[in-house]
Amino acid sequence: MLVKEFLRKIKSVLILQRMQYNSDQQGIIRRYLREREGWDLHLENSKKFIQKSLKTKKKGKVLVLGSGWLLDCPINELSQNFQEVILADILHPKQIIKKTNTLSNVHFLKADLTGGLIEFIYRNIKPGKKYLLNALISEINSFSYLIPDDIDFVISLNIVSQLSIIITDYLKPFNTFSENELKEIATVIQQTHINSLPKNKTCLICDVEEELFNEENTLIGTNPTVFSDLTPGNFSEKWLWKFDSSMTYRDDLKTFFNVIAIDL
Ligand SMILES: C[S@@+](CC[C@H](N)C(=O)[O-])C[C@H]1O[C@@H](n2cnc3c(N)ncnc32)[C@H](O)[C@@H]1O
Repeated sequence: MLVKEFLRKIKSVLILQRMQYNSDQQGIIRRYLREREGWDLHLENSKKFIQKSLKTKKKGKVLVLGSGWLLDCPINELSQNFQEVILADILHPKQIIKKTNTLSNVHFLKADLTGGLIEFIYRNIKPGKKYLLNALISEINSFSYLIPDDIDFVISLNIVSQLSIIITDYLKPFNTFSENELKEIATVIQQTHINSLPKNKTCLICDVEEELFNEENTLIGTNPTVFSDLTPGNFSEKWLWKFDSSMTYRDDLKTFFNVIAIDL
């Protein structure tokens, strides 16, 4: 590896550590192990939908955006059906790199799928300073992850609502931006991602709303998790993801997600 490339990798790891990210990905696997019963249906539904969507796609290169722990990804079927499988995430768990090393057509791409916005925010937004939201939004608008033209099938895998989280969680304690302003920032990040997905080549799976229940299983409220418009696409399905039944994500409340899968 070239020294420059090595330094770039170290720098991006340090930025993520300073932005408290690593613990988030560990959190996903820990929660899965705790909440297996509620998660399994969501993971199975995601895998089945991908297998349905892949049928109509050219079987050259498939790009999985937000591959993470591959909990929701039918990796063996992708490897068997496509010439090349590219798994893209900001961080790849080393257990997953090891687990897939027998699949010779599976490759890993470490990338910020906001197109570099994470580093931009880290370098340019400082606590205690004032920023004009409109100017910041137009900067944010210029960041986009470009999907290469030679990709035949793109899977946006439970990542839409997550893409903005590293950034908004980092900005929240600065108290520089209101809740609504952070929501506006998240909306632009989500919409940019959705706009970048090529038509008739994409399978998009994402949670769109959270439902909050109390201990007696009474619905207390709902909140959107995706603030952008989603088109119905060629075909779609919806299901409920019982994300947190043990009330550890939110004190005294269970959190479930409404998920939508779209063949775009
Ligand atoms: C909820 S997980 C998706 C589930 C995942 N397929 C799994 O089984 O673990 C969201 C994934 O998106 C990744 N992610 C979040 N923000 C990202 C970004 N800006 N660029 C690249 N990956 C990102 C996380 O690292 C995580 O692996």
